[in-house]
Amino acid sequence: MTLRLIPTHPFSGQRPGTSGLRKKVAVFQQPHYLENFVQAVFDVQPKLAGGTLVVGGDGRYYNPTAIQTILRMAAANGVKRLLVGQHGILSTPAVSCLIRKHSAAGGLVLSASHNPGGPDGDFGIKFNTDNGGPAPEKVTEAVYVRTKTIEAYRILDGIDVDLGIIGGSILGTMAVEVIDPVADYAELMESLFDFEAISQLMQDGTFRMCFDAMHAVTGPYARAILENRLGAPRGTVINGIPKPDFGGAHPDPNLAHAQELVSILNGHDAPAFGAASDGDGDRNMILGQRFFVTPSDSLALIAAHAHSVPGYRNGLAGIARSMPTSGAADRVAAQLGIPCFETPTGWKFFGNLMDAGKVTLCGEESFGTGSSHVREKDGLWAVLFWLNILATQRNQSVANIVAQHWQQFGRNVYSRHDYEGVDSNAAQDLMANLHRALQTLPGQQYGERRILCADDFSYTDPVDGSTSSGGGIRLIFDDSSRIVYRLSGTGTEGATLRLYLESYEPDPTRHTADAQFLLAPLIQISETIADVRRYTGRDQPDVIT
Ligand code: G1P
Ligand code: ZN
Repeated sequence: MTLRLIPTHPFSGQRPGTSGLRKKVAVFQQPHYLENFVQAVFDVQPKLAGGTLVVGGDGRYYNPTAIQTILRMAAANGVKRLLVGQHGILSTPAVSCLIRKHSAAGGLVLSASHNPGGPDGDFGIKFNTDNGGPAPEKVTEAVYVRTKTIEAYRILDGIDVDLGIIGGSILGTMAVEVIDPVADYAELMESLFDFEAISQLMQDGTFRMCFDAMHAVTGPYARAILENRLGAPRGTVINGIPKPDFGGAHPDPNLAHAQELVSILNGHDAPAFGAASDGDGDRNMILGQRFFVTPSDSLALIAAHAHSVPGYRNGLAGIARSMPTSGAADRVAAQLGIPCFETPTGWKFFGNLMDAGKVTLCGEESFGTGSSHVREKDGLWAVLFWLNILATQRNQSVANIVAQHWQQFGRNVYSRHDYEGVDSNAAQDLMANLHRALQTLPGQQYGERRILCADDFSYTDPVDGSTSSGGGIRLIFDDSSRIVYRLSGTGTEGATLRLYLESYEPDPTRHTADAQFLLAPLIQISETIADVRRYTGRDQPDVIT
C-alpha cells in the first residue's frame, strides 16, 4: 500500500452549518471535495493521529464510497484504530456512544440527517470531538479556515475494506474494526431504562405500538431493541430496512413527512403509542392515539417523569433547551428547583453544559430530545423514555398523561411554520428589515398584546465564555407569548424561513383546542410585523409542525 500526497485546490463554501457540512450529493461527488474537508479535519485535530476514530453513517446514497475514502485517509493520517459500523451503518447517537465508550479521539458521521437522500438528494459529513458531541464552533470554524488554503491531502492506495463482515483487519498501520452497529448502544439503553417493565408492557396483550424507521438508520436499532430484546411483536417496526434513498421519502419524523405513521395512529383500531425517527436516528416524534406530542412538551414531560426512570432516579442537574423551543421545560425546571438554560439552535451548544455537569436533559423543538448519556440528541432514547413512562402508568393513554401535565403546569401552545426554498435575497431582506425595527418594536401594542422586548438572540456559554450571535429575531410579549424569526442553517437550496410561535394557556378548558386555532392571533401579528407573505411570495407555510 502506498501513501500518496494528492495535490488539490480549495473549494468555496465548506463552512459547516447548524450540523456539519451538508450539500447536494453531486457537490460531494466532485473530485477532491470530500477529501479536502476530511483532510482539514485531520489538520486541525492533530490528536486524531495515534488515536481512535469512529466512522459511520445513516446508509444514504454515497455513504459506502465516502467511507472507503475516509478509511484510506484516516490510515494515511496516522489514525491508530478505526471503528466502523457493519455496512457503514451507525446512527448519530450510536457514534456518540461509541466515541465515549472507546475513548476515541473523535468521530465522523456521514449523514444529512432528515434531508432526502439518493443521487439527487443531500449528503453530509460532521465531525464529533472526543466528548462524543458535535464539534463546537471554534473547531468547525478552524476546519473551514483550513479548507480555504488546503493544497494537498493524504490517502493510501489499496483495496476496499469489506464492511459486510464483522471483524478486524489492517489498513497500512491502522487497525480497522467492523463492529455490530447496535450492540454498544443497546447496552447503554438497557442501563438507563427499566427493560423488565417495558417488556411486560409490550407483552401484556392490550398494549400495541408502531415505530416508523422511515427507511433510515434506526431500523436495525429498533428491531434489535423493541422487537428482539423487549418482545414487541414482529411488524412493530415499519420501514425498518435502511435504503440509500429512504424509499424516495423525506426521513423527517413530523406530521408532514411521517404520514404513514400518522395515518396508522389516526386510524381505526390505532395502537396506543406511535413513534418515528429521522435519517440518522437522532430525532423523534411521539404520538398517542389521535394525539401529537409537541417536542417541546415531550421534553417537559420527560423532565417531570424522570424520577420514575432508573437512569434518572437520582435527579436532574438541570435542563437546557434551544431558544426557539417552548418554555414548557422551564416550568418543570422551576418546580424541580433546577436551572434551565436557553441556548442557540443546534445540539453543539449543549455539550459544554453536559460536560460541566450543569444539565442532564436537553431538547429542541425540531424533534430533538436527549440527555447526558451521550452528546447527541437521541431518537430511540426518547421513545424508550416514553415507553418507560407508559410502563409505570399502565392505565394512562399518551393523551391523558399530557393532559395531566398541562393541568399541573399550564400549556405552552406551540407551532413552527416553515417557508422552504425561499429566494435567499428575499429572506435576507426580511430579516434585515426586522433587524432595523428592533429598536422601535418594544412597547408597541398588537390587539391585546404588547411587545416587551425585541432582540436578535445572542448567547454566552456559561462554561467557556464563548459567544454566539445571530440566533434569531425574538419578540417577547407582555403575556409571555413569543414570536421568533430565524433562517435555517441546514438547508441546501435557497433559504428556509422558520417562524416559531408560542403562547401560554393556563385555562384547562382551552387545553384541548387545536394549536393553530389558539395561535391564530399571534400568527396574524407575525405577518403584520414581518410581511412574510410579501417577502416569501407564499400564502402559507410549506410545513407546519
Ligand atoms: C435544524 C433544527 C435544529 C437542529 C438542526 C439539526 O436546524 O431547527 O434545531 O439542531 O436542524 O438537526 P436549522 O435548519 O433550523 O438551522
Ligand atoms: Zn438527524
